[in-house]
Formats: sequence, structure tokens, C-alpha cells
Amino acid sequence: MSDDSKAFRQALGQFATGVTVVTTVGSDGVPTGLTVSSFNSVSLEPPLVLWSLDRLAHSMPVFQVAPYFAVHVLSQDQMNLSNTFAQAGGDKFAGLTWNPGIGGVPLLPECCAVFQCETAHRYDGGDHVIFVGEVQAFDSAEDRAPLVFCGGRYTRLAQD
Ligand SMILES: Cc1cc2nc3c(=O)[nH]c(=O)nc-3n(C[C@H](O)[C@H](O)[C@H](O)COP(=O)(O)O)c2cc1C
Repeated sequence: MSDDSKAFRQALGQFATGVTVVTTVGSDGVPTGLTVSSFNSVSLEPPLVLWSLDRLAHSMPVFQVAPYFAVHVLSQDQMNLSNTFAQAGGDKFAGLTWNPGIGGVPLLPECCAVFQCETAHRYDGGDHVIFVGEVQAFDSAEDRAPLVFCGGRYTRLAQD
């Protein structure tokens, strides 16, 4: 990576975000997913959210055609889950408990919030593809504190 790219990545890393795991299921029924910090809200009416996926990700061929996906906002106790889903390829669901949601998409328990989405648009985003989902159902647990990512490190919100 060039010095310019490193500096660009470092500058982007100054934007503190939550951490999500985005899941879907292949037409063969195999669950897939990855850790994502590019999630954001787009529209309230209709209810739209977005995230972007590296074109080189192992999960790209599945997300490219998946009609549904789910975004899980991780809690501060779910750093291990984030690390599991940040691995490239492999069976990240081994040993995990999950339930099928809309379209059979795997739903993970004990998150801060979950958004079940129908894929509404896919846009070119350079070396990433931007996915826009229309939210079909959501769930949130206000008593759970979110995991935070900033400067390339996990952190948590300060307590009042
Ligand atoms: C905190 C964090 C945030 C991430 N955000 C994104 C993201 O928004 N988009 C993306 O494509 N990869 C993101 N990644 C990297 C992927 O999780 C990682 O490349 C993963 O191995 C991809 O899995 P796959 O190759 O099995 O699809 C993030 C990783 C971490 C640790």
C-alpha cells in the first residue's frame, strides 16, 4: 500500500463508528457474513440503510445476488464475534447459535440492534460495492451498550 493510501486509511479511521456483522444466506443454504463498520442510515421513509463491501471479499459472490441480508449492531461484549466475522472466508458460524430470519438469513442473538433488509440497490463504489437495504423488520435492545471502532481499535462509550 502506498504512503498516500495509508494516510487516507488512517484519516478515515478517525471517524468513530459502531461495529456490525452483516449476514446473508446463499442459494445453497450456506450462511455467510462479515464484520462491517461502513453501515449507516439513509432514509426514514422508505426505511433505507447502507453498507459497503470490498469487491475482493470471499462473501461478495453471495451478497451480489442475495435478496435479503441482516445487519447486527454489536454490543461492547461482542468483540470476539467481530473478530470471528472479520476472518476471511471459512465457516464463521461454527459453534454459534442463530435463527433464520426473513429469507432464511441468519440472525445472531444478544446484539444492540438488528435490521432485517431486502436488498434494494447495489451501486458501484470503486473497489467496494455499496448495498442499500430496505428495512423489513428491526429489533433493538436499548439496555445494551454498543461496541465502538476508532483509530483501528475497539473502544467503548464512556459511562456517564
Ligand atoms: C471493525 C471492522 C470493520 C470492517 N468494516 C468493513 C466494511 O465496512 N466493509 C468491508 O468490506 N470489510 C470490512 N471489514 C473487513 C472484513 O470484515 C474482512 O475483510 C473479512 O475478512 C471479510 O470476510 P469474507 O472475505 O469472508 O467476506 C471490517 C473489519 C473490521 C475488523
